[in-house]
Amino acid sequence: MHESILVYKGFRWLKLSVAMVAVAVLAYAVHRPEVGPPNGGTTLGYVLGVWGLGLILWLAWFGIRKRRYGVGKQNLEDWLSAHIYLGLGLIVVATLHTGFQFGWNVHTLAYVLMIAVILSGVFGVAAYARYPDLITENRRGMTQREMLSQIAEIDAKARELSVDLGDNIHNEVMRAAEALAFGGSAWRLLRGREPDCPAARAMRRVGEMAMDLPKADAEKGHQLLELLARKVQSVERVRRDLSHKAMMDVWLYFHVPLTFALIAALTAHVVSVFFYW
Ligand code: HEM
Ligand code: HEM
Repeated sequence: MHESILVYKGFRWLKLSVAMVAVAVLAYAVHRPEVGPPNGGTTLGYVLGVWGLGLILWLAWFGIRKRRYGVGKQNLEDWLSAHIYLGLGLIVVATLHTGFQFGWNVHTLAYVLMIAVILSGVFGVAAYARYPDLITENRRGMTQREMLSQIAEIDAKARELSVDLGDNIHNEVMRAAEALAFGGSAWRLLRGREPDCPAARAMRRVGEMAMDLPKADAEKGHQLLELLARKVQSVERVRRDLSHKAMMDVWLYFHVPLTFALIAALTAHVVSVFFYW
């Protein structure tokens, strides 16, 4: 997704969403409830409720639409642009439906879930706008596989160099190569940094040990340290790459399940109001 989604056909969906919001606000401003304050049970309350529910079901339909065969890319971009702007406009339609009456009940639970789905969507749009450029910049033209094989090459060279520099240094280099791991928990992936990184630790320790090397080995020690510093940089780059990609995905793990929870809560809301009618 890129900016074209947001400016799709000269902001066509933004304009439509603004028009939808304007109609709802105007109707709310002129409507005089039959009894009591504005709320979901007035005539306008029902109109806005059905309108909001219709929008939500249509927005959720996007998950099915997306996976259909034969849907052109342009068509999907059109849908996504509509999804974003009408999804944002929904906030106003649903809030006016409630007449700003909230409580500790299933109705308000539906409302809170709706806001949570929308917020995760906003995060998604921001992630799609931000991370693709960061990924390209961070990778410097390499694929993830190339970055990993670069690390393996550095490891092999470091091992070779360290053989002549004594057991302590050699063992440290070997240990660091074995202990290196990427990924793990979701939080670790997203964080993109490892406070106790084996590669950084090895560089530090070898740096300390290299100070005691005899003069004849100093040059080799220096070369090894340069290699280990390059390894730290490459490792950090892979971690950043994994983190960027995770940021592009993580919000959907909220957006989609929360959509199901929202539909369940809305079903309970609508059934319960008809039950008590
Ligand atoms: C077919 C669609 C809908 C119908 C028929 C409907 C019906 C109603 C009715 C009759 C009330 C007044 C209840 C009362 O005063 O006790 C109400 C209130 C409310 N509705 Fe809806 N609604 C619909 C859709 C929605 C949607 C889409 C949302 C938001 C996600 C929503 C959230 C609320 C909230 C938060 C209240 C206020 C609850 C309170 O007073 O504590 N409703 N709705
Ligand atoms: C209550 C309102 C909303 C509902 C129920 C909803 C639901 C959905 C569903 C079911 C999908 C398909 C996800 C999939 O199957 O992969 C989706 C996709 C998406 N939604 Fe929403 N959404 C809502 C509001 C929003 C809003 C307000 C935004 C942005 C501001 C947004 C941004 C997106 C984006 C960017 C995708 C595309 C994900 C992709 O194709 O990678 N959504 N939404």
